[in-house]
Amino acid sequence: MENLYLSQVPDGVEDLAVVMLKNLLVNFKVENISSGFLTYKTSGNWKEVSALDCVGTSYVLLRSFILLNNVRMKVLDWCMQHPGVIMSFLQMYFSQGQTFRVVVSCSSKEIGKYKEKIHLLEKILKGNGAKINTGHPDYEIRILEIENIGYVGVRISGKPGDIDDLQKNSIRKDVASYMIHMSNPSSNDVFLDPMGGAGIIPLLRSKMPYKEIYVADVKTNTLLKKIKKLKLSLRDFTIIESDIVKLPSVISQPVNKLVTDPPWGYIESMSDINRFYQEMFKSFDKLLVKDGILVLISPHIKLVKTCVSKSKKTFVIKDIIKIKVSGAETYIYKIKKGL
Ligand SMILES: C[S@@+](CC[C@H](N)C(=O)[O-])C[C@H]1O[C@@H](n2cnc3c(N)ncnc32)[C@H](O)[C@@H]1O
Repeated sequence: MENLYLSQVPDGVEDLAVVMLKNLLVNFKVENISSGFLTYKTSGNWKEVSALDCVGTSYVLLRSFILLNNVRMKVLDWCMQHPGVIMSFLQMYFSQGQTFRVVVSCSSKEIGKYKEKIHLLEKILKGNGAKINTGHPDYEIRILEIENIGYVGVRISGKPGDIDDLQKNSIRKDVASYMIHMSNPSSNDVFLDPMGGAGIIPLLRSKMPYKEIYVADVKTNTLLKKIKKLKLSLRDFTIIESDIVKLPSVISQPVNKLVTDPPWGYIESMSDINRFYQEMFKSFDKLLVKDGILVLISPHIKLVKTCVSKSKKTFVIKDIIKIKVSGAETYIYKIKKGL
């Protein structure tokens, strides 16, 4: 049976998300693409969708509505008129003891106008046998509006408690997943993240076949803490505490894939960001083999382009994707070492 889902994806990588999901989900078919969201069908289990690393919050959908105005209100009205349809949907996906509440996704300013109908709908559903817990439900029945399309479904990932230990203190795991995908992962990869931080990039990369994974950082304590918390075996990684400048003299094995997220937050306060980038690119050059791939995320597009052009064809930019991360615009670059 095919089920309908809605998933949040970082603004700018919707097409890449489609390519990745095609490989990950059985009978994947796109229904609609809008900025930051994908609606799709798959015959896979909803638990497979809720466990995906490459998407943000996901919903299993009961249905969608094309409406011109008052979208959320009209969807709420439809739900009140069709409690039986909602109950069959809940029974199909969730076990009997599980609890729900109704949430309308909107700005905090707007929430007041839906409150009364939300309570009424919860009362109707309770009367039809649903277990309602408005404080700490297991799941939320969500009413959403995206570009005049209304949706009703149940959120299957993305609750604050769902931000797993893998993701804590790191860039978003969907963003890290796209970066890894852009490096064309292969089982022969000698993979390196030279500024690994809390390690989301190497940890996600280790879910796929590889030859070797190196992760380095000037300070490795955050990564070591996370590995301990996740009860992972250190056998899977070679962890190196080193400045990026000195790293080429520490790693003797040639690296063919380098995926990294250089410092963002405090880079503005670095006395010489240009120099930092130049030195970083010199190290990338020493570390990477010919035809090796470098995937980098950085808001400093001019600087990256300058470093690439100064490399005199050592590096060639193959792709640049503009992406929004927590509302801030940045870029993911796929760069090939040509010489
Ligand atoms: C944006 S964070 C990386 C976060 C990482 N992607 C994660 O999700 O946990 C940048 C990292 O670069 C490291 N770093 C800063 N300067 C460095 C240098 N000169 N050499 C190596 N690592 C450096 C910082 O310690 C920090 O962990």
